Amino acid sequence: MDTDLRSKLECPIVMIGLMGAGKTRIGRMLADYLGIPFVDSDDVITAREGLSIPEIFAQKGEAHFRAVERAAIADLLTGDPVVLSTGGGAVTAPDTADLIFSRALTIWLRADTGILVSRVAPTLDKRPLLQAGDPAEILRKLADQRDPLYARAAIHVESRDVPLEENLNSVVKALTEHLS
Ligand code: S3P
Repeated sequence: MDTDLRSKLECPIVMIGLMGAGKTRIGRMLADYLGIPFVDSDDVITAREGLSIPEIFAQKGEAHFRAVERAAIADLLTGDPVVLSTGGGAVTAPDTADLIFSRALTIWLRADTGILVSRVAPTLDKRPLLQAGDPAEILRKLADQRDPLYARAAIHVESRDVPLEENLNSVVKALTEHLS
């Protein structure tokens, strides 16, 4: 645990980026490293709705999902230091993006499409947006649309095809530089 870095943190950290960027896995490791709680907005949404993400999209639609996502993120960003991993589309809703960028220190995990595709391949059934066609093509389009939104993040980190610990080290280094 890095108590020195933790002591410099005055607000929540929010992980943003496309599906497969590693927001949840690296975010959880970062929270452990800092000794603060980790929370995933998709987990909160599924618990509140009593439905899986694909079920929410299929039964209630994406607009409903985005509204619940906004409410969950608003409730989670109370000011206490936590690491919050958000769904890849959270920043596409302007009011949710405003909440995130005004209340948290944001970390964009950016990754090449090839890396994203290989990471999401085993869990495509859990990702409704990737079921409408070729996942690589969809992820490329989403990157074109969303990268300018993710770029508002205070900290940008490349999520590479290396062991998770190395990606965590890149995040910790960037966070340390940002907070010093
Ligand atoms: C979405 C990403 C998913 C989930 C939902 C929509 C998106 O989360 O919130 O399927 O719009 O990119 P992950 O980024 O954690 O896969």
